Amino acid sequence: MKEAIEQIKAELAALKAKTAAEAEEARVKYLGKNGKVTKLFDDFRSIAPEMKREFGQKLNELKKAATAKIEQLKEEVSSSGEVEASGNDLSMPGDRLPLGSRHPVSIVRQQIVDIFRKFGYDVAEGPEIEDDFHVFEALNFPPNHPARDMQDTFFVSAGHENPLLLRTHTSSIQVRTMLSQKPPIRVICPGRVFRNEAISARAHCIFHQVEGLYVDKGVTFADLKQAILLFAREMFGPDANIRMRPSYFPFTEPSSEVDVSCNICHGEGCNICKGSGWLEILGCGMVDPNVLKACGIDPNVYSGFAFGMGIERIAMLKWQVNDLRHYFENDIRFLKEFETSVEV
Ligand code: PHE
Repeated sequence: MKEAIEQIKAELAALKAKTAAEAEEARVKYLGKNGKVTKLFDDFRSIAPEMKREFGQKLNELKKAATAKIEQLKEEVSSSGEVEASGNDLSMPGDRLPLGSRHPVSIVRQQIVDIFRKFGYDVAEGPEIEDDFHVFEALNFPPNHPARDMQDTFFVSAGHENPLLLRTHTSSIQVRTMLSQKPPIRVICPGRVFRNEAISARAHCIFHQVEGLYVDKGVTFADLKQAILLFAREMFGPDANIRMRPSYFPFTEPSSEVDVSCNICHGEGCNICKGSGWLEILGCGMVDPNVLKACGIDPNVYSGFAFGMGIERIAMLKWQVNDLRHYFENDIRFLKEFETSVEV
C-alpha cells in the first residue's frame, strides 16, 4: 500500500490538463467511484488493524492532495486553456449594442419635474380615468361648458350625475391634492391627458401635461410671474424672456397665456415663431376662489396660482419638431435621434 500511495503522489504531481474535459477525466481517474484513490480506501478496510492508524492518515492526506490538484487544474483550464483552445480572441473590440433610448416626451417631462423639484415642488399623480367632479365641476366649469360635450371629452360612462371620463387635463390632480392636503401646497402634476380631437400636425387625442399649483397665505400674481420666468430660464437658457397675455380659464382669475422668447431666432423672427419672436408655452392664473371653496380651502385666508403646459409642445420647441404625430408613431428613425449607445 505504501508504494501505491507514493506512486499516485508522483502521478498527481505530474498531472496536467489542457481542457475542462481533461481535468474532469483526471478527477474520475483518481477520485471517481472506481478511481485510484477511492480504490485504496477499499483496500484499506482489509489491512491489519495495527497498521490502520498510519495508513489512515496517509490516505487522507493523499485524498486531500488529489482534490486540491484537480481543483487547481479545473481553475487553470477555465481561465486560460479553454478560451485559447476555442479560438476566441479576447483582445477583439466589443460589439456596440444600441441601448433603447428614453422617449423625448419622457426626457422633457423629467427636465420639467427636476426644475420644479429644485423650486421645492412635490410631484403628485392621479388617475387617467376620472369623474366629472374632479375634471370639471370642482374646477368651476359651468354645466353647459363645451368641454363637457361628447365632442371634446371621451366619456367612459355617460348618462348619470357624475360620469366617468378620460381626464382632459391634469388639473384634476390639483383638485385631488387640495382635497387631501392642507396649505401650504406646492405640487406639480405630470400625466397623460385625452381630448376628442382630430389628429393633425398640431393636435392629438392623447398628449402629456405638467401642471403646477401653489396655495398659501399671500400668494400673488407676482409670485406666479417669477416662478414662470425662472422656469423658462432653466428650460430654455438664461437669456429667455417671457411675456404674459390675458386669457380665460374657468378655474383661474385672472388668467394668462405665457409666451417665451423664441430660442431659435432670439427675437428676430423665424418660421418656428412665425416671425413674431415669441412662442406660446403655457396657460396660468390665480386659482379662482370658487375652486378653493369647492376643495375645502377658505379663499379669504389663502390664495394660489396654477399653471399648465403641454410636454409635447415644449419638446417640439426644444428640438424643433414640426409634427406632433412623430411622438406617437414610434418610427424608429425619429426615436433614434434621441438614442445613446454603450459598448458591452
Ligand atoms: N388646464 C389647462 C389646460 O389644460 C392649463 C392650465 C392649468 C391653465 C392651470 C391655467 C392654470 O389647458
